[in-house]
Amino acid sequence: MTSTLFAGIGELCTCEPTLGDGSALGLVHDAAFVAKDGRVAWVGRVSDAPATDARVDLGGRAVVPGFVDSHTHLVFAGERSAEFAARMAGEPYTGGGIMSTVAATRAATTDELRANARRLLAEMHASGTTTVEIKSGYGLDVGTERRILEIASELTSETTFLGAHVVPAEYADDRGAYVALVTGEMLAACAPFARWIDVFCETGAFNEAESRAVLRAGIAAGLMPRVHGNQLGPGPGARLAAEFGAASVDHCTYLSAEDVVALRDAGVVATLLPAAEFSTRSPYADARALINAGVTVALATDCNPGSAYVTSMPLVIALAVREYRLTPAEALLAATRGGAAALRRDDIGRLAPGFSADFAVLEAPTYVQLAYRPGSALVAQAWRCGERLTV
Ligand code: NIG
Ligand code: FE
Repeated sequence: MTSTLFAGIGELCTCEPTLGDGSALGLVHDAAFVAKDGRVAWVGRVSDAPATDARVDLGGRAVVPGFVDSHTHLVFAGERSAEFAARMAGEPYTGGGIMSTVAATRAATTDELRANARRLLAEMHASGTTTVEIKSGYGLDVGTERRILEIASELTSETTFLGAHVVPAEYADDRGAYVALVTGEMLAACAPFARWIDVFCETGAFNEAESRAVLRAGIAAGLMPRVHGNQLGPGPGARLAAEFGAASVDHCTYLSAEDVVALRDAGVVATLLPAAEFSTRSPYADARALINAGVTVALATDCNPGSAYVTSMPLVIALAVREYRLTPAEALLAATRGGAAALRRDDIGRLAPGFSADFAVLEAPTYVQLAYRPGSALVAQAWRCGERLTV
């Protein structure tokens, strides 16, 4: 099999502390690495590089692991710019607009949904994302949830069934019947296309007992749990995530000190979504409290048409540095290794021997520019499994 040397790397962020300078980012300067069969086979200084079949020179640029965007809602139709404008004029975000996206999504053809998701995925690739998780949740009937997950599973192996996003209007008077549908016929139709079960555990969405029922049924169907929790206010989401051994609880805008301890003790990743807080003008999560407690933190976009119509992980990194006061190194780790941990993946998120050769080449001498130059298109190239994703 062909081996390729990627050389001419001014600064390589391996995100593996046993490599390079011994920092958490495992930095190597004047670096190179070898990709073989889609995986990293060797990492080091270019002067020590082994012979390979091919060589790509990256012109002194910085290289980081491809971003792992572990929380998106990419399959939907329509947009909600009027809702965003109203919010910026003072309206609060309540999640109430979800049903307008559900109506548009139900009315869209599968080809239209697929084309929209592919368009957004192309934006993600262009900004350095090489792994993406995609949730359902804008169908809320058996046929549309299944269609969404079929499309999602064409685009990624990290697919999540979120039939429990909100109770659709037609079940407003019989919530129990909707939970029975989600945990019964809808789950059976969707589970073959999903790896994860998720529930929006929040006032206005699903309460603790309903969320428990959803998670229990999903686990019984062979899916692994993750939770949307503590986005709009304090609540049981994080605690349930800990109790169910979820891979991640996502949002975490309103966590109590007890929630933080429960997440740490249960080894649940806290996935923070600063673009949602930015776009809904919400308070920012207390990322420092989580890190100080020893909770693994991930950063993701939450790309969706309501609370965060954002595809750019560099923007998310910049927000995390500015608003969560993470160091640029902490933010990069959360966007790579953290995302991998949130998806329970041990093959992505680092540029170390054995890991997938997934990486972004920056039009910059250092990864710090991801936060330092917000709004500039700093990703020059993205590669996955040693193959170029972008031109
Ligand atoms: O993750 N929290 C729930 N769901 C989405 C937003 C959905 C919407 O407003 O359309 C989120 O923020
Ligand atoms: Fe979400």
